[in-house]
Amino acid sequence: MAISIRQLHKHFVGEVSGLDVRQPLTAEQAREIEAAMDKYAVLVFHGQDITDEQQMAFALNFGERENPRGGNVTRKEDYRLDSPLNDVSNLGKDGKPLPRDHRAHLFNLGNCLWHSDSSFRAIPAKYSLLSARVVNPKGGNTEFADMRAAYDALDDETKAEIEDLICEHSLMYSRGSLGFTDYSEEEKEMFKPVLQRLVRTHPAHRRKSLYLSSHAGKVVGMSVPEGRLLLRDLTEHATQPEFVYVHKWTLHDLVMWDNRQTMHRVRRYDQSQPRDMRRATIAGTEPTVKQQLQAAE
Ligand code: OGA
Ligand code: MN
Repeated sequence: MAISIRQLHKHFVGEVSGLDVRQPLTAEQAREIEAAMDKYAVLVFHGQDITDEQQMAFALNFGERENPRGGNVTRKEDYRLDSPLNDVSNLGKDGKPLPRDHRAHLFNLGNCLWHSDSSFRAIPAKYSLLSARVVNPKGGNTEFADMRAAYDALDDETKAEIEDLICEHSLMYSRGSLGFTDYSEEEKEMFKPVLQRLVRTHPAHRRKSLYLSSHAGKVVGMSVPEGRLLLRDLTEHATQPEFVYVHKWTLHDLVMWDNRQTMHRVRRYDQSQPRDMRRATIAGTEPTVKQQLQAAE
């Protein structure tokens, strides 16, 4: 059966049918999906009851796995998953929701802020593929914003003002904005800021996007307050309902997004109940600005 795609939002998001992601893709199918990602920026696949290995294998059609080091404060011995997926659940190793005051839980709450995955890395992520294994009974929708449409809607004066601006991104900025500020020396080293352009151009179709993220905490050449106000204004603009798609999860949905042209956030949910979400992350291929690549291997 051929793949078919129905657009779910005025600007972006395609709902894909006719594909079982557990089956290996032909080169032609992989190209078709990637072309759809370029166009829709977010793709929704329903009814994909997959294992971690199947999820990773599907993701690897679109690039290489991103090295997860430096993306969280969970100690290796506390990892719940022994697969190559990022654990985006609220669960501990015992399979139960983490206590509300647990450090990893407090850190993970940062996903409720608008962000683009791994914008705190020198080479930020290309795609994220998130699979719903247990859906939380209350809240927990994931929202996506189309940063191309948001860029297009800016006035010419703003476009000119921001064209060449560079921002500093760090997990310490996003978490710091929620009041999470205690880090070990090792974590401070790991979370050192990286530079990203504020306006980036998509490698396939060359459309420009606003490259915003709650990880951005400074604009190079501006005072901190001035820079943060600009970032806030742009974020407020880019996340108006006009540019936002709200995904209400159904068990076994797989949602795939292009971090180079979207932002996302998860809404608050019932932390006393499980929410098991697992993410495969595909690495980007180049920095958005020329800089020393961090020796983060
Ligand atoms: C992510 C993320 C949102 C969610 O996986 O990158 O931000 O809905 N998750 O859990
Ligand atoms: Mn994310």
